[in-house]
Amino acid sequence: MYYEIIFVTLRNIKTSKNVNIKDLSLKIYNTKEIDNYRDYNPTDPYLLARIFTFLANNYNLDQMGFIDFGAGKGRVITYAYNYNFNFNFNFKKIIGIEFAEELFKESITNLAGLSDNKTPPTLIHMDATLFDIRDELNVFYFFNPFIGDVIKEVLKNIDKSYLSKQRDLLIV
Ligand SMILES: C[S@@+](CC[C@H](N)C(=O)[O-])C[C@H]1O[C@@H](n2cnc3c(N)ncnc32)[C@H](O)[C@@H]1O
Repeated sequence: MYYEIIFVTLRNIKTSKNVNIKDLSLKIYNTKEIDNYRDYNPTDPYLLARIFTFLANNYNLDQMGFIDFGAGKGRVITYAYNYNFNFNFNFKKIIGIEFAEELFKESITNLAGLSDNKTPPTLIHMDATLFDIRDELNVFYFFNPFIGDVIKEVLKNIDKSYLSKQRDLLIV
């Protein structure tokens, strides 16, 4: 809670409130998989700081592409783009995929509130299983977005992308 308050106070973005998946308009590819989709809850700011500090300390992020599967209101994407209290992250590419229309729109608003000279992240409104994983992507972020056949499908797509271009991959 302490970290959440600091996080919200320092950044001008609204990402805290949880949302039940049943209250959202979903752009679903396969309606049979509805039970596999998870609600919106943002990543805990303390965890976020630890993850990104680890990445910045151990990898050349300017050589890497980052993707958040189930980007929600954009908390992780905005962090990857604009976190510069201790580090200045410079991912080569940042992508957020979100299939709930309401959350996708909020992520656009949240991102628009950040001013930076870097190339902005790409936010995509689609079902993650349909996303064709390009070889510029290496860091795959999942904060409990889906389970079952949906996660299997996305992992299969990552595998296919790796086989077409072998490179270091990180699954967070
Ligand atoms: C637990 S939230 C994580 C939000 C964000 N990544 C974060 O860490 O702050 C999971 C998100 O995944 C989205 N989601 C679930 N299934 C999805 C799918 N098949 N395609 C795209 N987004 C999906 C939900 O709408 C929700 O916003």
